[in-house]
Amino acid sequence: MSENITIIGIESSCDDTSAAVIRNGVMLSNVIAGQAVHTRYGGVVPELASRAHQQNIIPVVHDALVQAGIDKKELTAIAFTRGPGLLGSLLVGTSFAKGFSQALNIPLVDVNHLQGHVLAHFISQGKENEKFPSFPFLCLLVSGGNSQIVLVRNYLDMEVIGQTIDDAAGEAFDKCAKVMGLPYPGGPHVDRLAKKGNPNAFKLNKPHLQGYDYSFSGLKTSFLYLLRDEIRKSPDFVQENMADLCASLQATIIDILMKKLRKAADDLNIKQVAVAGGVSANSGLRDAFHQHAEKYGWEIFIPPFAFTTDNAAMIAITGYYKYLKGEFCSIEEVPYARVSNLLA
Ligand code: KG4
Repeated sequence: MSENITIIGIESSCDDTSAAVIRNGVMLSNVIAGQAVHTRYGGVVPELASRAHQQNIIPVVHDALVQAGIDKKELTAIAFTRGPGLLGSLLVGTSFAKGFSQALNIPLVDVNHLQGHVLAHFISQGKENEKFPSFPFLCLLVSGGNSQIVLVRNYLDMEVIGQTIDDAAGEAFDKCAKVMGLPYPGGPHVDRLAKKGNPNAFKLNKPHLQGYDYSFSGLKTSFLYLLRDEIRKSPDFVQENMADLCASLQATIIDILMKKLRKAADDLNIKQVAVAGGVSANSGLRDAFHQHAEKYGWEIFIPPFAFTTDNAAMIAITGYYKYLKGEFCSIEEVPYARVSNLLA
């Protein structure tokens, strides 16, 4: 029997510290420590995030090894998120990964966080009848910082064919939620409240962009102006219309996302379509995927909730495929805050 390939993934790009162990593509553990410290500021405070990562990283890595039931000497390689993300946060995970690989004398594999979100679809949990996408497929990658359509030709061959020119879909959820007085991050609150509202109650702006690019700033402004004008007439407007406002906002964001995705799927004649990133937890977006599967014959891939937000299992699986190709990273490499059009 061939030798085990056991990868530990380390993720620290934003406000979640995570470590996960994957053996031969099967997840053995995935430990995530969130950072409640940001809630009172209405957004992630970079310096506080770096400090919390420093406190969390060692216990999180320890727990990931314990839950996987392995000793650190059994590790084959260390995979870490090199970018994009907050530089101070990335530095914590990167420095830890470098030190750990030196101490264990095993290879270091750098991972693009966005590529990790896409490859989360290939994490095996060791269950029967697991279904993975085949190539090529399209992945709608929607999070707090990104909204992209990715053409996935192979594990390590991906191209961003469309992306937002301003705000991300998650940002649109969060910023509109904030003006309604909802806590941060607002996406899950909008999702919950939208279930009781009428999605056609309010008409909001939709962009008219060519190609596969997105824009959400016009929608955000139209939402803000709607609230400003209506509150002038009736100060309790938001409270009285909360569910309808959430439902209309959510429906508009989903409509914008699905229209471009449909266009890309049609143009490229691709029927396998996946969704990834924090916003893929949205119940309305998940429903829209199921409706598209029925109406257009798509084979859809929706990640389990644990893999929608930032997690190290997706970093470990990406590290696994890079390890198989011998794509290692030198100790000299530094984190990056932004990325180019190719996910590599
Ligand atoms: O991928 P992610 O965890 O990390 C960042 O990009 O930072 O995505 C976080 C985003 C936030 O904007 C959050 O509001 C959004 O995902 N989100 C949701 C839902 N759950 C998380 N948006 C809409 N509906 C949800 N159920």
